[in-house]
Amino acid sequence: MTLPSQAALATEVAKRRTFAIISHPDAGKTTLTEKLLLCGGAIQMAGTVKARKALRHARSDWMKVEQERGISVTSSVMQFDFLGREVNLLDTPGHEDFSEDTYRTLTAVDSVLMVIDVAKGVEERTDKLMQVCRLRTTPVMTFINKLDREGLEPLDLLNEIEERLGIACAPMMWPIGMAQRFKGCYNLRTNTLHRFTLKDGKRVQEDMPMTGVADPRLDTLLGDDAARFREEVELVTGAAEPFDRDAYLAGRQTPVFFGSAIQNFGVKELLAAFVELAPPPQPRAALERVVDPAEEAFSGFVFKIQANMDKAHRDRIAFLRICSGRFERGMKLRHHRLGRDINVKAATTFMAQERKTVDEAFAGDIVGIHNHGTIKIGDTFTSREPLKFIGIPHFAPDLFRRMRLLNPMKAKALTKGLEQLAEEGAVQMFTPLVGGGYILGAVGALQFEVILARLHDEYGVEGQFEAVSYGTARWIGADDPKILDDFTRRNQGNLAHDGEGKLTYLADSVWSLKRVEEAWPKVRFNATQELA
Ligand code: G4P
Repeated sequence: MTLPSQAALATEVAKRRTFAIISHPDAGKTTLTEKLLLCGGAIQMAGTVKARKALRHARSDWMKVEQERGISVTSSVMQFDFLGREVNLLDTPGHEDFSEDTYRTLTAVDSVLMVIDVAKGVEERTDKLMQVCRLRTTPVMTFINKLDREGLEPLDLLNEIEERLGIACAPMMWPIGMAQRFKGCYNLRTNTLHRFTLKDGKRVQEDMPMTGVADPRLDTLLGDDAARFREEVELVTGAAEPFDRDAYLAGRQTPVFFGSAIQNFGVKELLAAFVELAPPPQPRAALERVVDPAEEAFSGFVFKIQANMDKAHRDRIAFLRICSGRFERGMKLRHHRLGRDINVKAATTFMAQERKTVDEAFAGDIVGIHNHGTIKIGDTFTSREPLKFIGIPHFAPDLFRRMRLLNPMKAKALTKGLEQLAEEGAVQMFTPLVGGGYILGAVGALQFEVILARLHDEYGVEGQFEAVSYGTARWIGADDPKILDDFTRRNQGNLAHDGEGKLTYLADSVWSLKRVEEAWPKVRFNATQELA
């Protein structure tokens, strides 16, 4: 095995950009993903990603999900190069597939791209995903989409982002009109007019360098809209902060772009700015020390586990984010939780449409390794040094169901099945302190459907769910064991142990939780729980 020099390794790392797109359903994430892949040459034809989404929508039960697994595994990570950079785009399941996976994927990226629908502004799911980004101060770039349609005033939108998401906006582009009157965007960074014009009956983007917003050619090109455009730019440059890369990298400021994904307008500029400004793989904290991505020794952690097509073998793919060093096919990796070495004969890398065997990969890349049920989310692998990466948490679920077993002889199989599915991260499992049975928690409703189908298929268990009144959960801690005892005694009806035996408070609603938190100021109520 020939090791690359330190400098060669640092060059590989500096080239990587690993990110995810976050948005509320229907803001245009799929459309934008597709246009980014087209730009990067990863797909040749529009429609590829959309077709997959249509397929997902068409399914009505888990069996169909099962059939599509091959597809969703391949598309979980999309890799392409653009302007000399290696881009890794991690898919975050949306819509009804929304699950803890969506949240956890955000722990494996170095930055995110937030898509906002110009007509809808900040929506609920975006807000939730941003809260997760804030946990790791992930840098956020913003794309305001659907400018070809009527929407909110751009200035109002920026205000809304600042107020609701608590992040300062630095406009990199400024739109000229919208919907029928949409004439394009002015690139404030490069002083280019990206004109949206009609050519041979088709709307196309035309790029024209300018000397600045005062350039007299803008009057000819924009006509009556030129004056209003200049007024708005003056207003926005006076009111908004200028772009500051450090503030962006620290998660305090988001550079804002405008465009229309469906018209492929503004996408190339977004991607060019993204590969230039977004951070390369960052140092990552392990329990023992901080690991630098350009270190020679290999390290990585598992952020997602996906069941594979072959049910008979209970085969799963573990998605491993490389944090340092170089990965090479056939290399031996130490699985620290089990204290065992594994020989990675075949790891998979992911292209937009195909899975292929990986020969080498670097920090920032994601590799898929086969797993026969021994790998858990959060597990660390290294070439030698014992390390445990931190910051891959469980997120408090906000949907709950009580599990009812229909074939009581299968109680053992149910426990085993739930434990394994919980380890895989498919659902969270809680055992109430009083009363029997299990309460399951999820962040997306489809997770429950999947659990029932998989318990049936893989463990021969017939189950049913019953509604429970819980609306949120918090992991409990306190410095004083006496206070913890007292709290436990008085709140038994709302307490449970999670899959790892940790004490969890199940609250009816965030409001009732607030009251309990106020009543017990010395008790910690944690919304995330570090994986063991
Ligand atoms: P998502 O992944 O965030 O859920 O959104 P998706 O890309 O599927 O887009 C949601 C809808 O918005 C789609 O319409 C899509 O065509 C449309 N859309 C996306 N980008 C733009 C844009 O820049 N301008 C306009 N006007 N529409 C856009 P749909 O009717 O739900 O689906 P389809 O029939 O078009 O596929």
